[in-house]
Amino acid sequence: MLFRQLFDKTSSTYTYLLASRAGGEALLIDPVYEQTNRYLKLLEELDLKLVKVVDTHIHADHVSAMGSLRDATRCTTVMGEHSPADVVSLRVRDSEAVKIEGISLTALHTPGHTSESYSFLMDDRVFTGDTLLIRGTGRTDFQNGNPYDQYHSLFDRLLRLPEATFVFPAHDYKGDTVSTIGEEKTFNPRLQVSSAEEYAEIMDNLNLPNPAMMDVAVPSNLKLGLRGKDQHRVATIEVKELLAKWPEPDCLLVDIREEGERQRAGTIPGSIHAPYARFDEYCCKSGPLAGMAKQGRILLYCAVGERSTLAVEMAAEMGCEGLSHLPGGFKAWTEAGGAVEAAD
Ligand SMILES: [Fe+2]
Repeated sequence: MLFRQLFDKTSSTYTYLLASRAGGEALLIDPVYEQTNRYLKLLEELDLKLVKVVDTHIHADHVSAMGSLRDATRCTTVMGEHSPADVVSLRVRDSEAVKIEGISLTALHTPGHTSESYSFLMDDRVFTGDTLLIRGTGRTDFQNGNPYDQYHSLFDRLLRLPEATFVFPAHDYKGDTVSTIGEEKTFNPRLQVSSAEEYAEIMDNLNLPNPAMMDVAVPSNLKLGLRGKDQHRVATIEVKELLAKWPEPDCLLVDIREEGERQRAGTIPGSIHAPYARFDEYCCKSGPLAGMAKQGRILLYCAVGERSTLAVEMAAEMGCEGLSHLPGGFKAWTEAGGAVEAAD
């Protein structure tokens, strides 16, 4: 496995790069906007294809590189389902897997620092965001933070992991890089409490100033997605138009979401499946969509319209012209009352 812990000095943020092999797919956790070019260079040096970028929560101390990396690589942006960000390509629920080639992370909803904070567990290590830090825990006094929620996320979730599990946090201000669950249980001063009330008493009396970047970072991290006019920069068929022609829409519907999303939420009846991760194989010259695109209309859809916008652009670059997408994706379709059937 390829594993890199990258550091942003200004915000003391750790970003993690994961891949199962050189030449394969890669995933980044908690990337920092100012470091975008450094990540792109490293990906090129290690011969990796960035396919997913995960933020553990809405950061208040730095602008996320999720948007800039999506624009540069067409990777899928991932956050927990509770994220207040405007558009996230793929939202995961508690206990769901985030997968790339050869690697699977389990999403753990660990609210408290913020209400939408997630940790991600991978075999012998857990990426704890700002929920559990080395000899500390993330503050709980803004962004719907709650010390009681955090107590439960810590004591009922993270501290129940095997003691040898490595802890990789989103920040460290002292230069520590890694710890273990066992070490934190014993030596983390915030965890030497006997009740949620005692923990809340500590957290409610930290009296910390707001992060310097908060007024810039939070608004921009809430608006990182492709929406509105961004989703209209390629050809579209609107939900209304599709519904008006339903059930004979005179176009081929192509669901580009992941299998897990389809199984969980269902699919638009009559759709074929061409997952975004392998979409280049479907729209390349010898791919099935290239031939069909010449014969008639093809409508791509994903969860919220971000991946489908990128897929139409990717297809056009590969010579597969004439694809459209559904702005707002499957979410807009179901909200408008569109029919849904179980995925095969
Ligand atoms: Fe944070």
